[in-house]
Amino acid sequence: MAQPEAVTAAVIGAGLRGRFTYGGQALAHPDQLRIVAVAEPDAARRDAMAREHGLAAGALFDDWRELLARPRLADAAVVATSDTLHVAPALAALARGYHVLLEKPIAPEPVDCERVVGAAEKAGRILQIGHVLRHSAFYRRVHEIVTSGRLGRVWQIELEEHVGAWHMAHSFVRGRFRNREIAAPILLAKSCHDLDLLVWLAQSRPARVASFGRLSGYTKERAPQGAPERCTQGCPVQASCAHDAVRFYLGPGDTIAAGWPWSDVSPDPSREARRRGLETGPYGRCVYRCDNDVLDHQLVAVEFEDGLTASFSVHGFAAHESRVLRITGDQGELRGVLERGELELSRQGSFETEREQIPGSPLGHFGGDAGLVAHFVDVVRRDASQEVRVSGREALEGHLLGFAAERAREQGRVVECDGFRREIAAAAGA
Ligand SMILES: NC(=O)c1ccc[n+]([C@@H]2O[C@H](COP(=O)([O-])OP(=O)(O)OC[C@H]3O[C@@H](n4cnc5c(N)ncnc54)[C@H](O)[C@@H]3O)[C@@H](O)[C@H]2O)c1
Repeated sequence: MAQPEAVTAAVIGAGLRGRFTYGGQALAHPDQLRIVAVAEPDAARRDAMAREHGLAAGALFDDWRELLARPRLADAAVVATSDTLHVAPALAALARGYHVLLEKPIAPEPVDCERVVGAAEKAGRILQIGHVLRHSAFYRRVHEIVTSGRLGRVWQIELEEHVGAWHMAHSFVRGRFRNREIAAPILLAKSCHDLDLLVWLAQSRPARVASFGRLSGYTKERAPQGAPERCTQGCPVQASCAHDAVRFYLGPGDTIAAGWPWSDVSPDPSREARRRGLETGPYGRCVYRCDNDVLDHQLVAVEFEDGLTASFSVHGFAAHESRVLRITGDQGELRGVLERGELELSRQGSFETEREQIPGSPLGHFGGDAGLVAHFVDVVRRDASQEVRVSGREALEGHLLGFAAERAREQGRVVECDGFRREIAAAAGA
């Protein structure tokens, strides 16, 4: 049988995700995905994409507007710009007739999320959100067990995301997702994967949500006495501080420092360049003296329409990055830790525990990056299927849960999800 053609894609935003994840997947699986055009203002990144994918000058653009002003150049557009720059290129790409693979979160505001999903539905194009974890082998196995009925009727789900303290400090205190002016709340910016998993595993719609959380640790009040603005300015607690930027960012050699998170400090990985980055850029700042307002611990409690109850908590002070789950049904219980690839299934009335080891590496999100691209390619090839058209709205459910939880937390009350959905749809003119 003849192999299907590779799906062609125009990449909008050739940063970490655009170039390395989606570009990388295209290079690793040329039978699935072929990059045929790129929009990226940074000349070095644009040129790198041109070299890596053999693109001629006519396929390179400084800005998404130029690329999308042209008649459609590919089957799909991969929108991998930063969080606040998703909506306009996604809407323009859908209007041009592209299927869209859009990075998460859809947008930092719920109304914009609804607008993008509504636009995809109106255009009859596939909208795939970058929820990579549901495409990892680990969570696919979890979903398979839950839907197989082996746990009986599932009534309770607990998910936890433990964000390593270094990661919290890098991205949500010093870095790109540190405050509401430049990024979505942490439930969206970091944990929209987990909320997506929750809705997917619950197989029901959220009905009511409550939430508590604060920014407690990374605040000016917690700054050690005498701590200067930057770790490079001779801090008295430098040796004992877990967040000393000098040790963390200048410690590794140039090869490791060429990768994330060090690449955020300086695109040039040399120690001199990284030191200059710490002296002048955001990553050298004392974690207690930043312009951050992102919560560092939060709890979400959800009641689903079918009576299932669930909790999700995000921990911003974790010693180790991990995601933990416990799912209980009336016949069994499933426990798991993503980073260890461990799943344990116990059934009521039995003292036996079944253990499974699911291989996977945190690089590439435990296979989720590759799984997401393979899934997207598959649904684009099966263009006409109704199933694929619902994926944008399904992704929206997890996002709306996060926004509703934020409202519940801010207002100190329980939010009814149905009313929240209707309000957002009306505001978006849907
Ligand atoms: N799915 C996941 O697990 C996952 C993981 C990490 C990041 N993300 C998300 O992916 C997105 C991209 O993240 P990143 O780390 O690659 O960011 P990045 O900053 O490395 O890349 C964004 C790129 O967009 C480019 N850009 C800016 N303006 C542009 C314009 N007008 N036209 C075209 N390109 C433009 C920038 O120059 C940059 O190269 C973010 O929304 C982020 O939250 C998702």
